[in-house]
Amino acid sequence: MENGGSNEDYDSSLPVEKWCGDEKLYQWKGFWFRLQYLPGTQQVLDHFKPLPTDVILASFPKTGTTWLKALLYSVINRSSRDSLKTNHPHMLVPTLEIQLYDGTQPQSFSSFASTNSPAARIFATHLPYQILADTVKPSDCRMVYVTRNPKDTLISFWQFVLKSTSYEDPWPLEVAVKKFCSGLIPFGPYYDHVLGYWRESLERPEQVFFITYEELKDEPKPHVKRLAEFLGNPFNGDGEEEVLDEIVGNCSFEKLSNYEVNKSSEHTQWMNLPFSSFFRKGDVGDHINYLNNEMLESIDAITREKFHGSGFMY
Ligand code: A3P
Repeated sequence: MENGGSNEDYDSSLPVEKWCGDEKLYQWKGFWFRLQYLPGTQQVLDHFKPLPTDVILASFPKTGTTWLKALLYSVINRSSRDSLKTNHPHMLVPTLEIQLYDGTQPQSFSSFASTNSPAARIFATHLPYQILADTVKPSDCRMVYVTRNPKDTLISFWQFVLKSTSYEDPWPLEVAVKKFCSGLIPFGPYYDHVLGYWRESLERPEQVFFITYEELKDEPKPHVKRLAEFLGNPFNGDGEEEVLDEIVGNCSFEKLSNYEVNKSSEHTQWMNLPFSSFFRKGDVGDHINYLNNEMLESIDAITREKFHGSGFMY
């Protein structure tokens, strides 16, 4: 399908569940999607041909995508301050199935700074590896996957949804937790998403770099250094240590969230939300302020069941 099909095509043919308010999620290839992203997703699979030099940032929503977009752009281009001051990270590095392919005519790659970079084109995606594998594997492009502990991811997601003007009623946290535990969340199940990239990073470490929000927050410098090495762009020349310090500083939550462009109440074109909504607290462990014991226990139980047998810990 040239345009990825219409919403109606998916609406009438896929398993569907109520998610938040009146919004439903559609199950497609084992994962849950908002209807509006399915045509664009199909277009990515049909038309996107990565180059071996491309870098693709993959993430489950609310796990640090915005931060990693800023970091990747800065590391690859070795100069970031001016670009970051004047462009929201999402306008520097577009998300394939949301910003570039949206089910209509694909957006021009060249309208995003990172997609016509002489160093390497950078794209982002929330698509699970299980769905994207046939698109990315043949090109040998590099992928960077960021993940975050499930409880902070869920709270960040829940807060993000509460800010959205498209939902009129508040979304009870108990409901959000139940849906999350049963896998029902856009691009979920979260656990399958993480494990898809985790396993691929073990199998192809030269191609897939796996990092957690928490380790990056704890010690950004060594991890950004490692990331640069993975990208074939190490910080080992004269004066490079200062450049690394500058990049880590410019991409910190405190700095990044205070640039005017990131404080803007202007709405993004591709989501009904202000640019500022991608920055909230940027803390590790914020879930403790929201989840009661019962909620904590139900998430911990599913985390043990899904992750611990695979050798991945949270
Ligand atoms: P919180 O809601 O917990 O504050 P995503 O970019 O994947 O949508 O994730 C958003 C989360 O990352 C939000 O978490 C946001 O505040 C946090 N974030 C954004 N920029 C960050 C940065 N530079 N450093 C650390 N966290 C950041």
